[in-house]
Amino acid sequence: MKLLVFLLLPCLSLSELSQGFAKCSRFFLNNDPPQFTPQWANTVQEICQCVWYNDNNNNKQIMYLYATLYNRDWRIPIYSAYVFYGSVTVGRCDAWYIEPQLDGDPEQCMAPKGRKTINNQAVNSDYDNSNYDRGHLYPVQHTHDPLSMLATSTLTNAAPQDSAFNRVQWKNHERNVINDLASCVSLPYVVTGIVPDTNKPKLKLNVNFSKYYWRATCCLKNGVYTGQGYYGPDSSNVVQTLSIKALQTQLAKDYNVNSVIIFPTLPTPTGAKRPRTGGCI
Ligand SMILES: *[C@@H]1O[C@H](CO)[C@@H](O)[C@H](O)[C@H]1NC(C)=O
Repeated sequence: MKLLVFLLLPCLSLSELSQGFAKCSRFFLNNDPPQFTPQWANTVQEICQCVWYNDNNNNKQIMYLYATLYNRDWRIPIYSAYVFYGSVTVGRCDAWYIEPQLDGDPEQCMAPKGRKTINNQAVNSDYDNSNYDRGHLYPVQHTHDPLSMLATSTLTNAAPQDSAFNRVQWKNHERNVINDLASCVSLPYVVTGIVPDTNKPKLKLNVNFSKYYWRATCCLKNGVYTGQGYYGPDSSNVVQTLSIKALQTQLAKDYNVNSVIIFPTLPTPTGAKRPRTGGCI
């Protein structure tokens, strides 16, 4: 019996890693992640982004805050998906963390880098003195409490973003999204991603650049699930607003895949899932 327990333990920690989005599917509309068939599949990792906290009995617990699809080869995320619970300013975290599980560590949540050897993700020194920001996918402006704010500070939620664009146009865009989501009568679901730049040499030979960021939102407005798409910078260095349908067509082309479906199904009043027809495109 003892031997059995001993043998099972390593398997338990392995399955934690291979569970993908199982523990964080609630951050997708209808629990359904975006659908696309990436040719980069074997370098992609589904991450349930989490932080440790102390519960009322002072026991350490894990809180899941959002979901990220990460590319270990590019060392940047493809997208982060979250629910927008409102925008509450709770300060900002200057430290950036890494994701130990990407480099074979059993730790499930983000952590300081320490002395670990890192081969599968970006680290702070990749960005230092580069004139590029660690541009958030799930942004601080879209968080509502200290834990959600803290959880955005993992490098797996960031890509190199032109600092001037990040601090002006993209920041204003994030604020405009908050205003747009104010008329939602259901929780808004948001997916924010990046398209990599195939032409630029990698930052510090490690980290691919973003060509542009994109965002899609979906919520119930006036009785209809209503979607909105965005991307930027465009060729004039501004943020474009477009339908999700148009965004999906553009992403399929730029990711070089057959199709991209950001919100694959819509909720129904009975709780059944229905294939997306009119809404959120
Ligand atoms: C990553 O950067 C390299 C240049 O160092 C480039 O050749 C490659 O196409 C980039 N990858 C993607 C997915 O853009």
